[in-house]
Amino acid sequence: MSDLPEGIEQRSIGDETGLATRGPPAYGEPTDDTGWRRWNPRRSKLGAMIQSGMDTGLTGGETVLYLGAAAGTTVSHVADFAGPTYAVEFAARPVRDLLDVAEDRQRLFPLLKDARKPETYAHVVEPVDVIIQDVATRGQAEVALTNRGFLHEDGRLLLAVKARSEDVTADPETVFDEVVGTLESEYEVLERQRLEPYHADHLGVVARPR
Ligand SMILES: C[S@@+](CC[C@H](N)C(=O)[O-])C[C@H]1O[C@@H](n2cnc3c(N)ncnc32)[C@H](O)[C@@H]1O
Repeated sequence: MSDLPEGIEQRSIGDETGLATRGPPAYGEPTDDTGWRRWNPRRSKLGAMIQSGMDTGLTGGETVLYLGAAAGTTVSHVADFAGPTYAVEFAARPVRDLLDVAEDRQRLFPLLKDARKPETYAHVVEPVDVIIQDVATRGQAEVALTNRGFLHEDGRLLLAVKARSEDVTADPETVFDEVVGTLESEYEVLERQRLEPYHADHLGVVARPR
């Protein structure tokens, strides 16, 4: 595994050893009495990318734009080790839970917005070091392209692609090649890796702007 960013450790919590971050509990995850909480890669595509040893380029303290935050499971861990973290989610119901998660986290800013319309949050979001994307919707490459303008020139895109969101019947590898091909118009892909055994038919991608 590449070096873990500052603020992420492999720790024994309960009867398991695995990724952990330090912060207030957010969704019933196991914790220890020193403030660390388990980050289960089976519940998080970014967790799976890190656990699988992908070189995310994360060091800790980065400014983050997180697309597809849902109820905040993964972004709660991101806000534990990152700097200002803007969390975009377009479904009102999970955003209610996301707001609760953000209440305990000064650096987490939930945005009830559509990630396909970055112009609706461009006045709030500063340029970022990292875009983390897990939208599980059709047009995943286009979402990354349309948000590319927020990323510093030396920043990173950490993308989880769900094959079935693009095409339920197609061979996942064919879908991944198409998504990556579209991305490559504006990003250089540094690494791609399937996220099994943690997530079936998902691809993790690390890319930087061209
Ligand atoms: C797989 S879930 C995300 C899980 C989350 N990243 C985590 O690990 O905790 C995908 C989420 O993306 C959201 N989503 C899909 N399309 C979106 C869009 N265009 N804008 C914002 N959110 C979107 C969905 O509502 C859903 O909550």
